[in-house]
Amino acid sequence: MKKLVSAVLAGAMVLSMCASALAATTHEASLYKDGEFDPTSLSSNLSMGDDAILDAEVDGDTITVYLQEDFSAYFTTGNLSDVTISGKTVEMIDGDGNGKYDAFSFTHTEDLGDYTKFDADFTINVSIMPIAASGDLVIFG
Ligand code: HEM
Repeated sequence: MKKLVSAVLAGAMVLSMCASALAATTHEASLYKDGEFDPTSLSSNLSMGDDAILDAEVDGDTITVYLQEDFSAYFTTGNLSDVTISGKTVEMIDGDGNGKYDAFSFTHTEDLGDYTKFDADFTINVSIMPIAASGDLVIFG
């Protein structure tokens, strides 16, 4: 009987460990000025677009970055229309279906440590004029 109980307990432990390994985890994410991320001073050199980056969800190889949909700067409001990460176009996501993107996702191959830095290029639609800008997207562990 004891053996059966411990086998059931061990099975439950393995299952719960598998479940936590599969679960998506939420991570802090920030946008820094191109080439100016300094891990010893996290509040320095943030990009003007940092407030548009909310947080990130990591699920296996897939990172989903959540966005502030309408982003205001310089007395005007804009939305992201395109993003490339490490030179590759990401999948833009319109979760609420209102025609504006509220997230983007991409896959990564390297292990995420305390922080991982990705080269990021953005196209921002402001009125009818798109603005292109580059920065460093950092996902924290
Ligand atoms: C209303 C929307 C926006 C306007 C009007 C705007 C305008 C500007 C302007 C005028 C610059 C050059 C001057 C400067 O460095 O401050 C700039 C730089 C930049 N923008 Fe924006 N932007 C907007 C939204 C965004 C968004 C949503 C992102 C990214 C999520 C972004 C990312 C950047 C980056 C990476 C730079 C390079 C300088 C820096 O990192 O601060 N911008 N933007």
